[in-house]
Order: sequence, then C-alpha cells, then structure tokens
Amino acid sequence: MSAGADVRVEGVVRTFQVPDGVPVAVLCGVSLHVAAGESLAVTGPSGSGKTTLLQIIGAMDRPDSGEVRINGRELGGLDEAARAQFRNREVGFVFQAHHLLPQLTALENVLVPSWGAAVREERQERAAHLLQRVGLGARLAHFPGQLSGGERQRVAVARALVMNPCLVLADEPTGALDQTSARALVDLLLELNAEERTTLIVVTHAEACAQRMGRQVSLRDGRFVG
Ligand SMILES: Nc1ncnc2c1ncn2[C@@H]1O[C@H](COP(=O)(O)OP(=O)(O)OP(=O)(O)O)[C@@H](O)[C@H]1O
Ligand SMILES: [Mg+2]
Repeated sequence: MSAGADVRVEGVVRTFQVPDGVPVAVLCGVSLHVAAGESLAVTGPSGSGKTTLLQIIGAMDRPDSGEVRINGRELGGLDEAARAQFRNREVGFVFQAHHLLPQLTALENVLVPSWGAAVREERQERAAHLLQRVGLGARLAHFPGQLSGGERQRVAVARALVMNPCLVLADEPTGALDQTSARALVDLLLELNAEERTTLIVVTHAEACAQRMGRQVSLRDGRFVG
C-alpha cells in the first residue's frame, strides 16, 4: 500500500465530559483539507487539542459532530472492525508516549503491526532497514529498557512506518531528541513523504520541525488560527 491519503476534516467538534466537572470544549468546529502526499505541521499551545485532533483523524476517537473523510470514505460510517483495519493497514501512528512493549526487542516492537499480516519475511527486512535509517542498526536486539528515551522514540517511528501506511500521524516525534537526532528523524519522515507519497501530519512544538513541513496550521481555543 502506498500513495498518500486525502484527508478531509469538516466541522469537527469534540467536547470531553468529566464527572462532576465543567465539560471541556476542545475542538469547536475544525475543518482541514490535507491533499495526498502533502506534509503538514500542526502547532498550538499545550492543551489546544492537537492530540485529540490526530486521534480523531486516525479513527482512535470519534467526534461529537462533524466528519473525517479519508480518500472519500467517512470514518464515522465504518464499523469497529473496519476502523481497526483502517488504523492497522493505512495509518502509521507515532504517539506522544511511545508505547513500546518492554518484553520485545527493538526489531520485534517494529514488527508488532505486522502480526497477522502476510509476507513476514519482507516485513522483517523493512523493519531492519527502517531501524537502520533511524540510526539503530546496531540496536535491533535491544529491549526498550536498554535504550535511551530518544532511541525508544525512534523505534516507535520505525514501527509506525513498517506497514507502508498512506497516512502518517506523528505526535511530537522529536520531543525527546537532541537537535541532530531530531533533524535525522524529520529527514526520514520527509523522505518517506516524498518517496512513497505518504501524507504526513506532524504535531510539534519545535519550530525547526514545523518549518520543514509543506504547510503549517495552528490550533487555538478550539479553532485554527492564522
Ligand atoms: N479523555 C479526556 N477526558 C477529558 N479531558 C480530556 C481528555 N483528553 C483530553 N482532554 C483535555 O482536552 C484538552 C486537549 O488535550 P490534547 O491532549 O488534545 O492537547 P494537546 O494540544 O495535544 O496538548 P499537549 O501539547 O500538551 O500534548 C486538554 O485540556 C485535556 O485536558
Ligand atoms: Mg498532545
């Protein structure tokens, strides 16, 4: 699978209800179009709804109202099995917290999304190749407990890319990295964006990372500004 995803977000509203608390209106009618093969940075202050928006685009959460269409398909119209298949086959997530499995090696962690898929051998090669590209060629057999924070984050990036997703959603992918590693990681994401025409949406506080994306949008008070 490849060729990027066309992403259309229309009028998305998301409010979180908290027991005994005031409801938090996070997204107040957000609309966005990201064309196939584009790269986009989403910035905004802490708590402005960046992660919430990525989770809605990646079918990990549902909006209260509004729509998300990926290549014309409305995610709200898919049942849970189809949403799970979409997440696994078409989306590569790089989470803000990396969620590696501690009992698996770096290579095995990268291969987790391929469990249940065919052609394991080909995936093994791609997994090892991706780990090499993020500078971890000598760490394939290390467990997460034996890796630095930045190395774990790079494993998480390789894992997001192993299934050749058409849409990569990255939440603060350079947060734990020094400048050189951060640059290399953004290089990798942009190379894949260019080579494989993956659509890339990156949430970031890092100006250096945001500026390298084809376009930037900023969230504030539940809406895009600027
Ligand atoms: N499941 C939830 N239940 C209640 N409130 C939530 C939930 N998830 C997020 N929120 C609230 O929604 C707001 C937006 O959260 P979100 O994680 O999207 O922010 P963010 O822009 O990613 O921030 P950061 O830059 O700190 O990661 C926050 O105020 C948060 O407290
Ligand atoms: Mg966040």
